[in-house]
Amino acid sequence: MTDTKFTVAICGAGVAGLTLAVALSKHPDIQIDLYEAADSLFEAGVGIGLWPRSWKIVEKFGLQRPLSSVALIPPESLPQISLNFRKSDEALGLNVNQLITPGMLTFHRPDFQRVLVDQLQSTTCHIHRSRRLVSYTNPQPGSEASRPPIQLRFDDGSSSTCDLLIGADGLHSTVRACMFQEIASKACAEGRSDDARQALQSIEPRWSGICMYRATYPAELLSRCYKRHRALREPTVYVGTNTQITVYPISRGTQISVTATLANFDLEDTPFDGPLMEDVPQDVILHEFDRWEPEVQALFQCADTASRWAVHTCPPLDTYVSDRVALIGDAAHAMLPHEGVGPGQAIEDAYLLATLLGNSKTTISTLPKILEIYDTIRRPFAQQAMNRSRENAMLYTLTFPGLTFDRPEDYDDTQKRRLSEVCYRIRKNWEWVWTTTIDEDIDRAVDMLERQG
Ligand SMILES: Cc1cc2nc3c(=O)[nH]c(=O)nc-3n(C[C@H](O)[C@H](O)[C@H](O)COP(=O)(O)OP(=O)(O)OC[C@H]3O[C@@H](n4cnc5c(N)ncnc54)[C@H](O)[C@@H]3O)c2cc1C
Ligand SMILES: *[C@@H]1O[C@H](CO)[C@@H](O)[C@H](O)[C@H]1NC(C)=O
Repeated sequence: MTDTKFTVAICGAGVAGLTLAVALSKHPDIQIDLYEAADSLFEAGVGIGLWPRSWKIVEKFGLQRPLSSVALIPPESLPQISLNFRKSDEALGLNVNQLITPGMLTFHRPDFQRVLVDQLQSTTCHIHRSRRLVSYTNPQPGSEASRPPIQLRFDDGSSSTCDLLIGADGLHSTVRACMFQEIASKACAEGRSDDARQALQSIEPRWSGICMYRATYPAELLSRCYKRHRALREPTVYVGTNTQITVYPISRGTQISVTATLANFDLEDTPFDGPLMEDVPQDVILHEFDRWEPEVQALFQCADTASRWAVHTCPPLDTYVSDRVALIGDAAHAMLPHEGVGPGQAIEDAYLLATLLGNSKTTISTLPKILEIYDTIRRPFAQQAMNRSRENAMLYTLTFPGLTFDRPEDYDDTQKRRLSEVCYRIRKNWEWVWTTTIDEDIDRAVDMLERQG
């Protein structure tokens, strides 16, 4: 039996928390407790996608084999995906271009989680279900030698302790709330009231000004109401001012998935008035698109209902860490889904943090310094990913400054050039997910750790 170097509590068993647990479990001297609020880990059935940059990390964990058995595109044959890009907010649409990207591996979130949980069998990781963290306290050092552990409290009245707490608890993170309350109290006590206000603004998620509609239905319905619909054959993006629709065949072409983004960036950071997620009837959606070309209207004539989701993101944070507590994944940087990199950024956090924590030089007393390195390397990168996702959302909805369209029906050459420019910029903005790797950042982080001596 190996001696335990320190204990880590991970709050939240989503993509971020489970990936971190798997990465840390390779180090038998680190004891891991994973706390998840839900009683079942495998409920929310959303799709998650991984681009090559993230897939390369997953391969390093030795997860490629079990994951490829549940992936929707086999990784050996990452194809080029071409999205038709069409401007459609008028009676007659216009084909602009094709967006060519390498394939994205897609999973059902529950399948992905199940593969990771399987990896945790007979490791140092204990999974505790139905344990919702309510708050924590991080006692300040009495003497350098022996610091009291962090105290965790759960909603069933139970409590626990750890040497290191990782908040992987998503957009509405409890760990983030406690952490920034603590930072605010400290700033307040020191008379820094602006800093205190800033810290408190880091707690609540913000509305992006975007609502998304999602619907999935049998492909047969679509071919019945619109013969030889483009989306039955190939993934298509329809764009118009303030709106973007992505449609593609799923489940080997038997189902059609439609996602519509309705953006009003003037309302960004204002409170959203209404439920975060609700079902909306067909006529409400049809009304949104009544001026669009018929092939777009057909997409919604097939959907009896769709869910509407008010998309919230994490405020930009001044730090992801405080002493022995760190935030990873959506808890740190929930972003718009327009580059599909939310899960990938969660995996990058987990990989980098686990590499640092597992290093033989890392000890219980260097934990705060290790977290500082994580913050130094990961925060600017993840914030750039947030910015790019937002920029792409603006490009897609034709609201990017200088690239807007106020005379939709009138396509002169300038307008056409501008549309090609939109398409080009989206791809440019996106390229990093298949042309770069995390390796350099890992090297920089390890170098910083080793130079601490
Ligand atoms: C509705 C929705 C739809 C999305 N759709 C897409 C999509 O189509 N494509 C895409 O690429 N990305 C999508 N995302 C984003 C993507 O799911 C995340 O970026 C990614 O999964 C990383 O998530 P995470 O593990 O950090 O957080 P999450 O997946 O949110 O996991 C957090 C976990 O923490 C648990 N938890 C929360 N609070 C507590 C607590 N106090 N104590 C204990 N446990 C707690 C939760 O139950 C959950 O299991 C979507 C996100 C949401 C919310
Ligand atoms: C992200 O955008 C914000 C707001 O425009 C800006 O202040 C910040 O510097 C950007 N961050 C990065 C890493 O690009």
